[in-house]
Amino acid sequence: MTALLKVDGLVAGYGRTAVVHGVDLQVDAGEVVALLGPNGAGKTTTLLAVAGLLPVMDGTVEFSGAPGERRPHRLARAGLALVPDDRGLFDSLTVAEHLSVGTDRKDRARAVGRVVEWFPPLAGLMDRRVGLLSGGEQQMLALAVALERSPSLLMVDELSLGLAPLVVRSLVPSLQRAAEETGCGILLVEQHAHVALEVASRAYVMVHGNVVVESPTDELRADPDVLTRAYLG
Ligand SMILES: Nc1ncnc2c1ncn2[C@@H]1O[C@H](COP(=O)(O)OP(=O)(O)OP(=O)(O)O)[C@@H](O)[C@H]1O
Ligand SMILES: [Mg+2]
Repeated sequence: MTALLKVDGLVAGYGRTAVVHGVDLQVDAGEVVALLGPNGAGKTTTLLAVAGLLPVMDGTVEFSGAPGERRPHRLARAGLALVPDDRGLFDSLTVAEHLSVGTDRKDRARAVGRVVEWFPPLAGLMDRRVGLLSGGEQQMLALAVALERSPSLLMVDELSLGLAPLVVRSLVPSLQRAAEETGCGILLVEQHAHVALEVASRAYVMVHGNVVVESPTDELRADPDVLTRAYLG
């Protein structure tokens, strides 16, 4: 299968300081891949570099939707979506307003209908401002906004950040269903490994800016010690 995203030897960081030191990773079309690792491992930095929001200091990042492209707006237009760890929503705008940004008026009803099928609670919240939504509802909306544009690659930074386990449990099947129905690849960053291992078919574990484990998730589920050892260095 051709790679949707291929990252080779990525070095990235802030100013002149690299915090990601040569990461290789790949996501194929329709595949859900987890990027795991402890605080400060470089997961967010990796996503930002892939999305074109941080420079690639060395190595290559190829998104098949836009070969050779590194400008973030062009990557986004070509089908690369990022849900950042702060969800990237506007407190003063309503749910409906978020879902109407950037979609064609004639396609809007269909697009909104589709995301509401994946995230039914949004249907009753259309006129509510984001600042008044719960954390779980905000995450649903952030995912819906990203999926509405039919991306070919969706990157989600910290799906479960600040959410109760029960809320996360309800989000995961929706995300899985959306991925299956749209065929988009997903790169899921998670600190809580068990959540990611449930949805993803493969996982990378990053520690101190390097990928230290790459494995099918069924092997990690069968032998959780591999993860524990990786996290503890
Ligand atoms: N804007 C920044 N300027 C300088 N250093 C930064 C900046 N953002 C992050 N870092 C540093 O880069 C390293 C990697 O951070 P990154 O946010 O990529 O980790 P992470 O794996 O996403 O961690 P977490 O699980 O806590 O979100 C850390 O040492 C962090 O302190
Ligand atoms: Mg992070």
